[in-house]
Amino acid sequence: MRVLLTGGAGYIGSHTIVEMCEAGHDVVVVDNLSNSSPRAIDRVEQIVGKKIPFYVADVADEAAMDRIFAEQKIDAVVHFAGLKAVGESVRIPLAYYSNNLDSTFALLRAMEKAGVKKLIFSSSATVYGTPEKCPITEDSPTGNCSNPYGWTKFMIEQILRDYTYANPEMQVILLRYFNPVGAHKSGRIGEMPNGIPNNLMPYITQVAVGKLPQLSIYGNDYPTPDGTGVRDYIHVVDLARGHVAALGYDKAGVAVFNLGTGVGYSVLDMVNTFSRVNNVPVPYRIAARRPGDIAACYADPEKAQKELGWRAVHTLEDMVRDSWNWQSNNPNGYEK
Ligand code: NAD
Ligand code: UFG
Repeated sequence: MRVLLTGGAGYIGSHTIVEMCEAGHDVVVVDNLSNSSPRAIDRVEQIVGKKIPFYVADVADEAAMDRIFAEQKIDAVVHFAGLKAVGESVRIPLAYYSNNLDSTFALLRAMEKAGVKKLIFSSSATVYGTPEKCPITEDSPTGNCSNPYGWTKFMIEQILRDYTYANPEMQVILLRYFNPVGAHKSGRIGEMPNGIPNNLMPYITQVAVGKLPQLSIYGNDYPTPDGTGVRDYIHVVDLARGHVAALGYDKAGVAVFNLGTGVGYSVLDMVNTFSRVNNVPVPYRIAARRPGDIAACYADPEKAQKELGWRAVHTLEDMVRDSWNWQSNNPNGYEK
C-alpha cells in the first residue's frame, strides 16, 4: 500500500515509516516540523535505504493536502500530526483545539475529494480519563479528560464516528496508545522533547546523561505495589508495528484498539531497571503527587491480538536499553 503519514517526522511517525517500509509498503510524509526535525527523515532514509517523499506543510492547509493527494496515489492515511504536550495544552488551549481539530477537518475533506477511504488515527489512553478498572478494555467509558489535549483526542474520535456514520464505506481505526518509550535499535531515531521533558522516560535519560540533576518521583503513596504510579510502557517499535497491522484490517466502519502490553510497571520499576540494565545511576527524590495523575493505567491488549494479529514483543529491558542507546548517542537529539 501507499500510505500517507501526517506528522511522520515525529517520534512515533518516524519509527512507523521504518516498520512500514520493512513490511513492503510505500510511505509519503507530511509534517510542518512544529515539533520535529527534517533530520529525522534523513536518518530514516539511511535506515531504510531509500528516499521518502516528504512534504513540509501544515495538515490544516487543505490546498496543500489536495496537492499531495493529487501528486501521490494514496491508499491509506495514518494521522499522527497533532500537538501533544499535556501541560502546554492547559496553558494554550485554543492552539491545541485549533491545530488538532482543524488538521483533522482539512485532512478528511482532502481525503474525500481524493476518494481515500482508510484512516488510522493516533488516539490515546488519555480518553479513558480516570479508569474505573485496570486492565482497560476498549469498551470502558471515555471522557472526563483532565486537559485540553485529552479532549482533542476524545473529540476527534467522535468526529470520526459521525463522519463514518455519514460515509459508511470509510474504514477508520482508532488506535489508543498507552505510554510509548524506547527507540529504534540503531540509535539513529528517537524521542526529542522540547525543553524540560514532562514524560518519565525522557526525564530519566536526561538525568542519566547529566543534562538534569535528578528525577522527581511524583508521589509514593498511591495504592500500587510500591506506592509509585503504574503505567503500561510500550516500545515504540511495537507501537509502530501496530500501525502496520492496522493497515491489514479492512472492515468498513470504526474500529477501536488499545495498543499496550497489558503489563503495568511503576516509576520505581522503570528507574531501577534503567539503572541496572544500562549500568548508569539515576539520582531521584520523592516529590508531591503531580496534579491530574492517576494511580494506575494499563491496557487489555487482547482485542488487537485477536483482530489485528498484533501484540507487543519487546521487554522492559529492551525499552530502557534502546532509550539509553538513543539518548547517549544523541545527547542533543537531532542537533548534529
Ligand atoms: P511528535 O510531536 O513527535 O509528532 C507529531 C508530529 O506532528 C510532529 O512532527 C509535528 O511537527 C507534527 N505536527 C503537529 N501539528 C501539525 C500540523 N498541523 N501539520 C503538520 N504536522 C504537524 O509526537 P508523537 O509522540 O510522535 O505523537 C504522534 C501522535 O500520537 C500525536 O497525535 C500524539 O498526540 C499521539 N500520542 C502520543 C503519545 C505519546 O506519549 N508520545 C501517546 C498517545 C498518543
Ligand atoms: N513521573 C514522575 N516524574 C516525572 C515524570 C513522570 O514521577 O518527572 C511519573 C508520573 O507521575 C506517572 C508516570 O511517571 O506516574 C508516567 O508519567 P508520564 O508523564 O510519562 O505519562 P502519563 O501516563 O502521565 O501520560 C502519558 C502522556 C499522555 C497520554 C498518556 C497515556 O503524556 O499524553 O501517557 O497515553 F495520554
